[in-house]
Amino acid sequence: MNLKEITDHINQKIAELAYRPHPVELYDPIRYLMALGGKRMRPLLTILGGQLFADNWQDWLKPAIAVEVFHNFTLMHDDIMDNAPLRRSKPTVHEKWNNNIAILSGDVMLVQAYDLMLSVEDRYLRQVLDKFNICAAEVCEGQQLDMNFEQLATVSEADYLEMIRRKTAVLLGFALELGGILAHASERNTQLLRQFGENIGLGFQLKDDLLDVYGDADKFGKQVGGDIIANKKTYLLIEALTRAQGTDRQRLEYWLAQKDFDKTEKVKAVVEIYNNLKIKELTENKINHYFQMGFAQLAQIEAEEPRKATLRAFIQALIERES
Ligand code: IPE
Ligand code: IPE
Ligand code: MG
Ligand code: MG
Ligand code: MG
Repeated sequence: MNLKEITDHINQKIAELAYRPHPVELYDPIRYLMALGGKRMRPLLTILGGQLFADNWQDWLKPAIAVEVFHNFTLMHDDIMDNAPLRRSKPTVHEKWNNNIAILSGDVMLVQAYDLMLSVEDRYLRQVLDKFNICAAEVCEGQQLDMNFEQLATVSEADYLEMIRRKTAVLLGFALELGGILAHASERNTQLLRQFGENIGLGFQLKDDLLDVYGDADKFGKQVGGDIIANKKTYLLIEALTRAQGTDRQRLEYWLAQKDFDKTEKVKAVVEIYNNLKIKELTENKINHYFQMGFAQLAQIEAEEPRKATLRAFIQALIERES
């Protein structure tokens, strides 16, 4: 079976998710966000990870979707925290409704994610919930570090990498590991899947940082320049702060210090500095580095080569993605 077929099944299952009837203000935002689509990367990773070892992927749909619901919960809250107007090319939940609704709908999505995860067979359930718990706590830790870093003048590359490992990479690692567990893979192969997931997760977040600056707004579906507006300590900004000298440095420090500014003007000025410093190329190299590390781990996994091909092609498309 191919990627399209699996994605269709995932979307079908998501469309069939049942919600309690009242109050609609709590459940409508969930239906809204879940119906906006997205790449469905995390459930795909669970299924493609499991498919390296077994074929009964339809049995893994519920836990795979648990990971997607958890991801969408983090997005609903992340968009409040990042003051983001757009998600998947549509107004964010807190913009369309309000912050309180986005907080509470997000909360109940977290409950729903755990409820879906309960479908894992008993013999694996405790192990899976243990790992899911650690992963979920790490995502929150990463999100807090992300917020803390907005207020700092500088952040080291190592601290940035640890922040994105927690906020983004561990969930991709967990999604793949879950696939391995559900497909009864060996401990060694499951661990390789986990490491593979964390490495592509780092590459994936670096690419997200890059698209936030250089993406095409229509394809990206999010506000381009949002990270610059918020002084997010992205890889791009950290590298620019390390490299900028002379007028580039003065102008960068000027824009980072402004409290009241024209957003378009700030984004334009900072992008110009990034361009002068060749930050785009630097970031692309870093992205490739982590994806290559991931591919090296995929190569070590003991599974038949043709089974790896779909997963490899899917990851390759992530490197080149525009949305
Ligand atoms: C967005 O995740 C949040 C990040 C970790 C960068 P995705 O880019 O996977 O978002 P969707 O689900 O496809 O919309
Ligand atoms: C968010 O990172 C990661 C999580 C949602 C946990 P970003 O804040 O960069 O994600 P986007 O760009 O809003 O999707
Ligand atoms: Mg964020
Ligand atoms: Mg965000
Ligand atoms: Mg982003």
